[in-house]
Amino acid sequence: MTMPSTTWMGLVLKFLATTDSMNFLKKTAANSSPIVIFGASVIGKIILDSLEILNVQPACFCDNDIQKQRDLFNGYEVIPFEKLCADYSDAFIIIAAGRYFDEIQRQLLNAGFENIFCDIDVLSCINFKKTEYSKLQKITWHLAKSGKLSEILDLPGDSLHIPRLNVVLTSRCTLRCEHCSSLIPHYKKQYDFDTLSIIASLDKIFTCTNLIYHVELLGGELFLDKDFPRIAEHLINTGKILHIDVITNGTIVPPDSMLEILKHDNVGVVIDDYGELSKKTETLSNSLQRLGIDFRVNKHWAWADLGGFDSRNLSEKQLAKMFARCNFNSCTELLDGKLHRCPRSSHGTETGLVPEYSEDFIDINKFSPNNKSLKEKLRSFFYDKKFIRACNHCNGNTSDSLTLTPAEQQTQR
Ligand SMILES: C[S@@+](CC[C@H](N)C(=O)[O-])C[C@H]1O[C@@H](n2cnc3c(N)ncnc32)[C@H](O)[C@@H]1O
Ligand code: SF4
Ligand code: SF4
Repeated sequence: MTMPSTTWMGLVLKFLATTDSMNFLKKTAANSSPIVIFGASVIGKIILDSLEILNVQPACFCDNDIQKQRDLFNGYEVIPFEKLCADYSDAFIIIAAGRYFDEIQRQLLNAGFENIFCDIDVLSCINFKKTEYSKLQKITWHLAKSGKLSEILDLPGDSLHIPRLNVVLTSRCTLRCEHCSSLIPHYKKQYDFDTLSIIASLDKIFTCTNLIYHVELLGGELFLDKDFPRIAEHLINTGKILHIDVITNGTIVPPDSMLEILKHDNVGVVIDDYGELSKKTETLSNSLQRLGIDFRVNKHWAWADLGGFDSRNLSEKQLAKMFARCNFNSCTELLDGKLHRCPRSSHGTETGLVPEYSEDFIDINKFSPNNKSLKEKLRSFFYDKKFIRACNHCNGNTSDSLTLTPAEQQTQR
């Protein structure tokens, strides 16, 4: 089995060097065992699309989440683990499960499954030169993450690719989640960031970037910012972004006239469903469906406890270890013209809870448009950083810190 793509920063390219990348297809062709995708999720859908390109059909999906077992997923049954063990003990399992990969792999090995694969094992079987781009388009974002995109697109050698960019529109929000990773309840005064200034910073970044794989537009609650359609339109028109997600907490349904711009192949709305708190999830889903806008409802099972802001007195070696382990380490975020590596760094600096470490961020405001040095500065920021000093004020988002109930509201103080 090859490295799953979820550990992609720096590590993922390793898979290109593996010699047994055709193993998955060869093994399944030589064996009539059924194929089961473990994880009825975004990655699960990408695996399904990849298998379709390979003309391989899975038997079903498996998922540990009882809620997901209730409905069909893209037309396939979602079975519980017990049924997988009882009815599919000889199956080829493809794990499609982001940060839960290790946990599921352990679960499968303990139950005696031998043929376990990951997303990259499947992607590696696709002959990109011989496959029409229209078929590959659905999985482009995943291909980009796994370093395979240059095999199908003609990109210049000195290209700058940005894997992920969060664009923060507002610190206003309809909820006050005690452990919000964006520290929204810590803002003394909440405000929308200036739209023209956001657009100016984005343009400076786009000028020296060839491709951005994944952009998230978010707040706070971005639907409170009436300018969100304008920024979304600007991003769509760059033509340089593979996928844009608009993140909302399911408490607001904007009018159709504001949502319409989101009807685009590369755009999706993610509704974070915090149960009772996300009162408008259903109404919003209905609006998006009616308008033909791609969306998904995202349930959260645990949030990370990033801890307080005091210094942990970590050495540079310890900071690097913390940074490497943290799931937020590539959630690069543009906030008020400054580009940070994670929300703790951006919102922490903005609220004054984390000291302003100048080496932790790039102040895009200080660069004139077309400034040639920005490209190399960005390249080094995205690809060479071993840690940020903000990690000294944080416990990180790791499997150990995922201990909190999501979206618990602050009690009045
Ligand atoms: C800060 S929110 C902003 C968007 C919107 N207000 C929402 O909650 O969906 C962005 C994402 O961070 C996640 N998040 C917030 N606090 C978190 C934490 N402590 N651990 C893990 N994820 C967290 C939220 O679930 C959401 O998906
Ligand atoms: S996590 Fe909660 S407080 Fe933070 S931005 Fe989202 S809804 Fe608002
Ligand atoms: S450990 Fe570092 S990278 Fe992770 S959230 Fe904290 S400050 Fe950000």
